Amino acid sequence: MWKGRFQTETSNLVQRYGESISYDWRLYACDIEGSIAHAAALLEAGILTKTEERAIVKGLQEIRREIESGEFRFKTSLEDIHMNIERALTEKIGAAGAKLHTARSRNDQVALDIRLYCRLEIQAIHQRLTTLQNALLTLAVNHPSAVVPGYTHLQRGQPVLFAHHLLAYLEMLERDKDRLRDCYRRLNVMPLGSGALAGSTIVLNRKLVAEKLGFPAVTQNSMDAVSDRDFVAEFLFDIALTGVHLSRLSEDVILWATAEFAFIELSDAHTTGSSLMPQKKNPDVAELTRGKTGRLLGNLVALLTTIKGLPMTYNRDLQEDKEPLFDSIDQIKLALEVFAEMMAAAKVREDRTLRAASDPFLLATDLADYLVLRGVPFRDAHEVIGKLTAHSLQEKRDFPDMSLEEFRQFSPVFEADVFKVLDLKTALKARKGIGAPSPANVGAQITRWQKRIHAATDF
Ligand code: ARG
Repeated sequence: MWKGRFQTETSNLVQRYGESISYDWRLYACDIEGSIAHAAALLEAGILTKTEERAIVKGLQEIRREIESGEFRFKTSLEDIHMNIERALTEKIGAAGAKLHTARSRNDQVALDIRLYCRLEIQAIHQRLTTLQNALLTLAVNHPSAVVPGYTHLQRGQPVLFAHHLLAYLEMLERDKDRLRDCYRRLNVMPLGSGALAGSTIVLNRKLVAEKLGFPAVTQNSMDAVSDRDFVAEFLFDIALTGVHLSRLSEDVILWATAEFAFIELSDAHTTGSSLMPQKKNPDVAELTRGKTGRLLGNLVALLTTIKGLPMTYNRDLQEDKEPLFDSIDQIKLALEVFAEMMAAAKVREDRTLRAASDPFLLATDLADYLVLRGVPFRDAHEVIGKLTAHSLQEKRDFPDMSLEEFRQFSPVFEADVFKVLDLKTALKARKGIGAPSPANVGAQITRWQKRIHAATDF
């Protein structure tokens, strides 16, 4: 490609070291789409005749078919997808093919290709987030009155509906979707025409190219446009955070599937056995997701580190953007798919959740609130119930099994109606502030999510 200036061939080792075709081949469809739009601008500018432009479009479409059918032979010596396609086109159609790269550099070409690619993948991930939301929502709908202990520090805290716990993940995943849409909006700007770094003396209609490719705007600074990978970093962050959310869900699932919790049973299809211990049923999917999150974080940090030391403008370092990007996209798509499938097939053990949620200590705060409603300052009420808890532990007698006299040893404010507080249903019903887990609230939230998720215009 640069034979003019050089006298010897690039060393084999340098070819192996610098090639990106082994992974950037997947930009082929975006590269071809971009080249077809570029050819239209070259036609408009009079650089190409109509016949030449047609030959280019036809040739590129043929190349696309060859790549998709597996006939196309990618050459490492041609470095990357851009040169592989351009060379194949020139071999196919001759001189017209050699005109395609007019007023274009691989620098603005690759910037365009990655943006086109990210647009598609953002939508694909967004869709999978919705699918997982749906799976979790269905689980909530099928178990509307299952109660679980809510935990802080992984110690039992207060009772909540299991559905409320699941809906917490719908909130996280909704923010993930919102972030992706935001990322999409920011990267949806057309960089072609920026050339290597300073545009070109051959001025093309950039707005035409943008329009053809569905971009609402064109980039305004050629130097920034060829060296900007902010959008890749943003996308990698968005994926990493989704990974972190899935990793937290994984941790919950792993705990729930233990014999100690036994809140859920995962299906045989989504677990694995042990090669040694015949009784084992392991939550490998959740563990892998938790583990792979490390990679997603690593990919983000790798890219940020690559970018941080770069002088303006394009530097070859930027070729290192693709492998982390592709890896994160692949991993998160699979994780979302497998998680949706696994959660849809999980069985909830309501007997076990109820037993755990029936721990009377979960209502200790409700007892303190009982005193507060009768005029006791909260700090004093807290201390009274703390002492009552110590007493209960010492006497090995739960709150409901204690007598009114016993309660009154700790505060004269207790009356016979204190026992009404010690009912799980009453306790849940009472939590009716906005965002709290009363059955009425959770029911309304389920309806809200059903409407939201079933809306056709999700993206
Ligand atoms: N494969 C290259 C990349 O991904 C394309 C741009 C190459 N530009 C250059 N001046 N060597 O960054």
